[in-house]
Amino acid sequence: MIRSLRGRLFVSLTAVVLLTGLAGGVFAHRWAFDEAIETQDSVLIQIAGLVQSGGLTGAQDLHGVDEDAEVWLIELGKTPQGTPEERQLWRLQDGMRDAARKGKPVRVVLRTRSDGSRFAVAQSTGVRDEIAGDMAFRTVLPIAALIPCLMLVIAFVVAGSLRPMVHLADELDARPADDMTALPLRDLPSELNPFVSSINGLLRRVHEMMEQQRRFIADAAHELRTPLTALSLQAENLDRVELPPAARERLAVLRQGMRRSKHLLEQLLALARHDATPPDRAPGEVMELDRAARGVIADLLQEAISRDIDLGFDRAESVLVCGAFVMFTAMIRNLIDNALRFTPEGGKIDVAIYQDGATAVLQIEDTGPGVAADEIGRIFEPFFRGQRPEGDGVGLGLSIVKRIVDRLGGTIEAANVIEPRRTGLRVVVKFPAAGT
Ligand SMILES: Nc1ncnc2c1ncn2[C@@H]1O[C@H](COP(=O)(O)OP(=O)(O)OP(=O)(O)O)[C@@H](O)[C@H]1O
Ligand SMILES: [Mg+2]
Repeated sequence: MIRSLRGRLFVSLTAVVLLTGLAGGVFAHRWAFDEAIETQDSVLIQIAGLVQSGGLTGAQDLHGVDEDAEVWLIELGKTPQGTPEERQLWRLQDGMRDAARKGKPVRVVLRTRSDGSRFAVAQSTGVRDEIAGDMAFRTVLPIAALIPCLMLVIAFVVAGSLRPMVHLADELDARPADDMTALPLRDLPSELNPFVSSINGLLRRVHEMMEQQRRFIADAAHELRTPLTALSLQAENLDRVELPPAARERLAVLRQGMRRSKHLLEQLLALARHDATPPDRAPGEVMELDRAARGVIADLLQEAISRDIDLGFDRAESVLVCGAFVMFTAMIRNLIDNALRFTPEGGKIDVAIYQDGATAVLQIEDTGPGVAADEIGRIFEPFFRGQRPEGDGVGLGLSIVKRIVDRLGGTIEAANVIEPRRTGLRVVVKFPAAGT
């Protein structure tokens, strides 16, 4: 059973063409052959008529009829005489007969003249069949030549008719997973319309469901923020009160838990927010990538200094990119935050911003342990934190970064630094640079 519609159409149509061609060819051959034999019979009869009326005499006259036709006039006399074959012929009645001459089959017309002498006009059956076969073959030839042409036409027509379907599949394949825009209905054969409408309906429903989920996460995170802020305030108030050392220890654990929850809520909100921006609306303003990075570094410098980490620019060119300032800031903050979190005291974090042709490049490189080889493919998954989670991380930072990069039409790659006496993670983000 052929699964492809194109294959099935082509094979069945070709089979029909071949069968019809074959049947037509066989019948045409038959008819043409019989027709040719009949024509030759009537020629023999005409020759016999000419001989009988005295219009033709002597065997050599017959050579004029056709060099290859091999028609003989055999005089048989008034009584049986000559070779045994001639005697045999003499005994046959007048008319069209099958006989033999010189051991080979022939077709003969026997006649008796008014004076009682008999003659036969004979033609070799082999030659007759050959001539009839030739003629029949020439009738079949055009049919045989038409079949490959028809097959070619079928192949073109079938491929052409199914092309819109192939285009549609290619378009769907090439889509990013979150592109829910409806497929265009125009330019499509009407048979495909119900199918495409169903796909569009499904896309709409999936989009609504994703929207609902995103709203739920955003709402839940938002709702949880208020009680958590109240709890944090209470904990801070408690901090100011005189407490026994054991209670103070527990309070510290409690406050750390609250910090973590707050961070989780903020990350969830950020994820939902960046999910919501449709790709076509994201690139709004033109802004300086280096300015966004400078702001983030200034914010995080104090933390870096307190842990004796050398955080700074390795290369800082003025590069223009398209997109919302807050998106770039959120992205850079999450990346430098990771670098800070995973780099041990006394380490170094280098940030580089430069333009490479039409591409804006942001590179952040740290001297931390890097990511285990079997985990590096998963670090952009939500909530993935690997085997060595550090600090208050919840595993959402890189998912947020990835979404922002996707929205802004960029690419991101993370790779371990492989150099002697050095480890670390190098993250390279590339965007289309805005016109200089
Ligand atoms: N610079 C880095 N060095 C080593 N490992 C890293 C680095 N950046 C990310 N990772 C690994 O990737 C995981 C996912 O990072 P991601 O930023 O998504 O989450 P997180 O930092 O743990 O939490 P969050 O950013 O939400 O606070 C981290 O838990 C860590 O295992
Ligand atoms: Mg992070």
